[in-house]
Amino acid sequence: MAMIAAVVLLDARVAGADTVPAPAPCPTESAHSWCDRSLSPDQRALRFQQAMTQDEEITLVGGDANGANGHTGATYAIPRLGLRQVYFTDGPVGPRQGPATAMPIPMALAATFNPGLAYAYGNEVGTEAKAKGNDFVFGPTVNIMRTPQGGRTYEAYGEDTYLVAQTTVGWVNGVQAAGVIATTKHFVANNQEGQAGAPPLTAANGGRQVVNANVAERTLREVYFPQFEAAVKQAGTGAIMCSYNKVNGVYACENPHTLLQVLRREWGFRGIILADYGASKDTAGNLNNGLDFVPDQGQVDQSYNPQLIQAALLSGQVTRETLDQHVRSILRTLFAYGVFDRPGYANSDAQIPAAADESTGARIEQRAITLLKNDGILPLKPGIRKIAVIGPYANLFVTGGGSGQVTPRAVVTALQGITARAGTGVTVTYTDGRDQAAAAAAARAADVAVVVVGDVQSEGLDKSCIDLNCSPSDLQADVGMGLTGTSPCSQSSSCPANGTDQDGLISTVAAAQKKTVVVLETGGPVITPWRDHVPAIVEAWYPGQDGGTALARVLFGDVDPGGRLPATFPQDPSQLPTAGSQQQYPGVGEEETYSEGVFVGYKWYDARGLTPAFPFGYGLSYTSFHYGPLQVTAASASNQVATATIDVTNTGRRDGIAVPQLYISKPATGALPQPVRQLVGYNSVTVGAGRTVRVTFPLNDRSFATWTDTGWQVLAGCYRLSAGASSRELPSSATIGRGTTCPGESAQLPASGSFDLPVPATASGASLAAQSISCARAGGRLTAFSLEALRLGMTRNAARGLFATVTLRGRRYMDFFCSGPQGIRAGYPSPRLLRTLRPAQRRRIRQRVVLILTSKRGFSLRGISPGARLAVVRRRVAVTGPFVIGANRWYLLTIGSGRGVVKVRHGTVQEIGVATPGLTRTRHRDRVFLRSFS
Ligand code: BGC
Repeated sequence: MAMIAAVVLLDARVAGADTVPAPAPCPTESAHSWCDRSLSPDQRALRFQQAMTQDEEITLVGGDANGANGHTGATYAIPRLGLRQVYFTDGPVGPRQGPATAMPIPMALAATFNPGLAYAYGNEVGTEAKAKGNDFVFGPTVNIMRTPQGGRTYEAYGEDTYLVAQTTVGWVNGVQAAGVIATTKHFVANNQEGQAGAPPLTAANGGRQVVNANVAERTLREVYFPQFEAAVKQAGTGAIMCSYNKVNGVYACENPHTLLQVLRREWGFRGIILADYGASKDTAGNLNNGLDFVPDQGQVDQSYNPQLIQAALLSGQVTRETLDQHVRSILRTLFAYGVFDRPGYANSDAQIPAAADESTGARIEQRAITLLKNDGILPLKPGIRKIAVIGPYANLFVTGGGSGQVTPRAVVTALQGITARAGTGVTVTYTDGRDQAAAAAAARAADVAVVVVGDVQSEGLDKSCIDLNCSPSDLQADVGMGLTGTSPCSQSSSCPANGTDQDGLISTVAAAQKKTVVVLETGGPVITPWRDHVPAIVEAWYPGQDGGTALARVLFGDVDPGGRLPATFPQDPSQLPTAGSQQQYPGVGEEETYSEGVFVGYKWYDARGLTPAFPFGYGLSYTSFHYGPLQVTAASASNQVATATIDVTNTGRRDGIAVPQLYISKPATGALPQPVRQLVGYNSVTVGAGRTVRVTFPLNDRSFATWTDTGWQVLAGCYRLSAGASSRELPSSATIGRGTTCPGESAQLPASGSFDLPVPATASGASLAAQSISCARAGGRLTAFSLEALRLGMTRNAARGLFATVTLRGRRYMDFFCSGPQGIRAGYPSPRLLRTLRPAQRRRIRQRVVLILTSKRGFSLRGISPGARLAVVRRRVAVTGPFVIGANRWYLLTIGSGRGVVKVRHGTVQEIGVATPGLTRTRHRDRVFLRSFS
């Protein structure tokens, strides 16, 4: 419960942190019978559970709501058996436990269209959560944005299932690689907070605690499930949080269909199912239908109250075997993720790598900023002498409220960022915008006006409207749900837009100054009625604590705006998929019906032929791109049936970021209508001026499949693939026949295959020959492993790569490394780099292999991370392998006491990192494989 946790959080700040970690439950392998690491997590869990009394088992399934000591939640310790408390913290934007790095919001992360940055974000949150002594994070929030009125829109990844699923996989992998267990939430159909009721009734309409989401099975399978499925199957999330609402008449935390049938049986989830705070309602219903753990036991939730569990056991409503199963789920997860085999994490902010984390946040925000309109005034020209910064949001830190609200360590506002970047020769004035005449005068007196406006979002209550003047005071309403919407306006006693007519302000300023840039700091889509009257619009989202610096860098053109819209911006609210029907949203009484079915977000606009203000996937660059023809070929790698390839050429004069997107149009039938198109691939690539990058999209059978009465099927017919810059700009297309021949088809594939994995591998981009030394050939071939020493030399930020001096058997080589999502990737030196070297150097490194070696905080290769400065490592690196699993070859590296793994597929380095379950996923054989090394 966000409010309650917020109070505890203050205590923690006053009380300080416990820096002495609790000892490992298994200090040695022989300490207890369950400490034997040659046993599987299931075997160890069984041994531990068999040593427990019934009372101890009951103790373990309910959290210690009062003993969280500054954390959001905790388990009870079982001292007799050496089991310490295990700690949980919110959330999806960072730890909500005293000051932390306030990241740009998850919606901004989604706007990067960059799975590598999702990994970096998750890893940053995991690192800080760990430094604050937590074993679990309550995140990511992966619910689909069904309506932009949703109070938690800012907290998740937008309206498209595929984008959300890919982002989820990156985030969960990142957090778990940091040694903290992810809790993917909220399962499922928790897509609204509810609307405040009309006075005198304050209870919510469609409130999240009570609303019954009536959703067809196909809609669940195609829209609301896949991101959870990907978190389970492809990222190995250790926990899933079930939600408050009912799904088709049954509460989500006691729903046998969603929890037992789908999550446990079909997807094979072996981790912990835990309840949102206040979401468990019925002791027997919860125990019998899959709920393992109630973290908030005793605060709001009472269902796992020991007396109630004992009564349920005594009356026979619940069997002892059912209780045992829940206990084993909890224990096996703790064993599988190493909690038993290590001491508790020390809780000390001094461990937080603050500078690195802040730069991760700033890097993500830079890449997230989305340029919606530019009539040539951006980037700001060097001749500018006076900038009028205007608006209520320009000098505030704003983020979303509730359990995604993080207390920043320090803040750079838009005004501060612009002032610092403009430098001494430029005058920057500030007007808050309440007085529109003063704002117009300031704008007139300057060379350019930058108007910064925004919205307010919070857990606990939906927005009543989506224009900028939507009254934030709504968020103060007590909506009778046990949670008052918390004001996210951290640095102000009142919300920033209070008393400010933001739409009017923009129009007034634009009339006074024709060079007006509107900067939106919103958690999601808003209405932009003034868009035809201003020359430039930038969506910066809630930008995180260093957002002002990132914004200034984009405005001044130091970096290209890399963001693309993860949600459609409608022209007006009547275009929303949920508009016009109370039954659809927010519901009538406690009932609502998802009658739009699979036509969520842009799929609705496309099906209805509506032209939005700004479509899904849209965003401008400061350069221009040309998309070549789309090539499709059959492929038969694991989790892949076809490959689509397109060349993207930067036709402008500066380097820029392209986000090529691939959509599929499936053959529709009367019984199974299909979206006009849906996203099945994307990536974000930097393309040098005049250069071409070849982007490859792997497709699997789920890219083609439809949920039918008999499960997933690829229906025989002609499938059209289209590629381009947004959902509404798709210049290149190709046809694939599935089980049939189609006119002009590029490839024909069998009717169906495996539907196991919801998302295929991430699309990749590789510069074509004669490219610059940007990460041109990242992913070089791995041919040597007898590395003795590695010296990373000068960084070449412009090239986004690192030169490294590698000593192999006493001889020194110089090589080129590229920073990639999981660390430093390998690549050949490019021709352009070669030209800069002396002939002798050139001969030595031509076509040489390059090698790996670290994840961001992996091994003990201190200081070697993407973008790191000089770092020297003089350690022997022992390499074992390769070990072949499926299409992958694995190598194990030993560096001092650290262990790392390198995954290579088709001779190309795919992943590098620490040998943890997070990196290796939960796929059984992978873990067995890795365990054989330890
Ligand atoms: C939210 C969860 C959060 C929990 C603990 C609930 O109100 O819905 O997302 O993790 O509180 O703060």
